[in-house]
Amino acid sequence: MLSYQHAYHAGNLADLHKHALLAAMLSYLTVKPKPLSYLETHAGRGLYDLTSPEAEKTGEAAAGITRALAEDWLPADHPLRQALDAVRARHGATAYPGSPLIARHFLRPDDIAHLAELHPTEHEALAEVAGFARLHQQDGFQMAQAVCPPMPRRGMLLIDPSYEVKADYDAIPRHISRLVRKWNVGVIALWYPILTDQRHVPMIEALRGGHADALISEVNFPPARSGHGMIGSGMAVVNPPYGLDEEAARIESLFSQRFPGKAWR
Ligand SMILES: C[S@@+](CC[C@H](N)C(=O)[O-])C[C@H]1O[C@@H](n2cnc3c(N)ncnc32)[C@H](O)[C@@H]1O
Repeated sequence: MLSYQHAYHAGNLADLHKHALLAAMLSYLTVKPKPLSYLETHAGRGLYDLTSPEAEKTGEAAAGITRALAEDWLPADHPLRQALDAVRARHGATAYPGSPLIARHFLRPDDIAHLAELHPTEHEALAEVAGFARLHQQDGFQMAQAVCPPMPRRGMLLIDPSYEVKADYDAIPRHISRLVRKWNVGVIALWYPILTDQRHVPMIEALRGGHADALISEVNFPPARSGHGMIGSGMAVVNPPYGLDEEAARIESLFSQRFPGKAWR
C-alpha cells in the first residue's frame, strides 16, 4: 500500500526546482496558439495548504517557497510566480499549487490534460480541483503508455513518482524509451530526488545513454532534517523546449548561491 503523501513536502526546495522548470516549459509551450496535450503520471492532490498540520509538521515549505518568496528568488514575471499568484488569488494566501494546478494556469480551452493518481484519497482530492482534466485512477506509467501518442501530438508529460517502489529506478529509463518511440515529438520530464546514496546515478546514466540530448538539471540543498536522505533535486527532460537551458542555469545558480556549502553531500 502506498504511504507517500505530498502534503508533507509541498512547496519544499525540491518542489521549487521542479515547479519552476515545469512552469517555464508550460509557459513556453503555450506561446503558440496550437493546442497541446499535458500528461502527468503521478499528479498528487493538486492543491495544498501550507498551514495544514502536515506542512507545519515538517516545515519544508517554510524553508522552500515561503523563504523563496520572502527573499525574492522568483521575479514577479516568473511563470511559477504567476501561477502561484493566480492560485493564491483563488484559493487563499497560504495555498500552494501542485503540478496539476500549475498546468491549469497555462492550459487553454483546446488543450487536453490527462492526470493519473493512484491513491484513492489523493485522487478524490484531485477530482475536486481538476475538473479541467481527464483523470485516471490507475498506475501512471500504464496510463502514459495507453494514452501516448496523445492527441494533440504537441505537448509534454511530467513523470513525478514518489520512488516508494525501488524498482522504479530500473524501470523508468525503459518506460521513457518506449514512450519516446511512440511519441517522438513529446517533451518528457522526469523528476528525481538526489539522495545521500546517489541511487539516481545509474538511472540517469541509462536515460542519457538512450537520449543524449536530454537536459539534466540538478540542484543541491541541505537535508530538511538531520538524517533525512534527500540532499537535492533533479529534472531530466527529453526533447527540452527552447530556452529551458537558460531557466535551468538561472535556478541552478540561485541554489548554489544560497547553499554553497557541500558538507551534506
Ligand atoms: C511526488 S507526488 C506527486 C506530486 C505532484 N506531481 C506535484 O508536483 O504536485 C507522487 C504521487 O504519486 C502517487 N502515486 C504513487 N504511485 C503511483 C502510481 N503507480 N501511479 C500513479 N500515482 C502514483 C502518490 O499517491 C503521490 O500522490
